[in-house]
Amino acid sequence: MTLIFAHRGYAAAFPENTMKAFREAEKASADGIELDVQLTKDGEVVVIHDAKVDRTTDGKGYVKNFEYKELKKLNAAYKNESIEMEPIPSLRDVLGWLAENNLICNIEIKSGSAAPGELEEKVIKMVREFKLIDRIIISSFNHYSIVYCFRLAPDIEIAPLLAEGLYMPWVYAESIQAKGFHPHYAAAPNEIIKASLENNISIRPYTVNKESDMRRLFGEGCTALITDDPVKAFKIRKETISSANNNKRP
Ligand code: G3P
Ligand code: CA
Repeated sequence: MTLIFAHRGYAAAFPENTMKAFREAEKASADGIELDVQLTKDGEVVVIHDAKVDRTTDGKGYVKNFEYKELKKLNAAYKNESIEMEPIPSLRDVLGWLAENNLICNIEIKSGSAAPGELEEKVIKMVREFKLIDRIIISSFNHYSIVYCFRLAPDIEIAPLLAEGLYMPWVYAESIQAKGFHPHYAAAPNEIIKASLENNISIRPYTVNKESDMRRLFGEGCTALITDDPVKAFKIRKETISSANNNKRP
């Protein structure tokens, strides 16, 4: 069955990359969550997508220029009138919560084009500390980051993010010892899905929000899809399964 990963939590309805969005994703029956990490000035691993806090919080400036205790005071729910305050969580906050449930977590390392080092090392150390190695997939557009993670921790799954179509992406994934890859959904035509699965390489397209795309990917039996709207995805997956069962009946 194709798993449903809630992109930045249940980001279609709640402030992205907050504990509220992650908890709501769990309530929506998502199988996993996706989140983005980067480092503060004083070296805390925090969960936020953009290099700057401007779009998602009531603050201004680069994440890397904030000390964690200052960053925590910003409101990541300031655009949502029904939620008073949601701080930017640390990865530690999220992993602590994950240790109490069964969700899978796709940690996307937002390292830009930087050489791997402190961020990757801290992520790996924390995943081990919380004993979550079996439920974590580390991804990044910076493939040097994930290869470095694999060297540090070959027991933790890695998956390259692919914004564009690649020739035989399953071969590329294998070449860096990734058990899967995460393409933009437009770079995941049916024949690529089929060939990847036949080669035992997982494929989890992002960010799938349109009903027609969801139906196609569920129909093709993708390993997972990454969506802002786990409620919609759950409903469509249920319909896809029941119509497949009906078609099997004599
Ligand atoms: O993990 C897939 C997706 O999150 C990558 O793009 O920009 O939403 O982080 P972005
Ligand atoms: Ca992401």
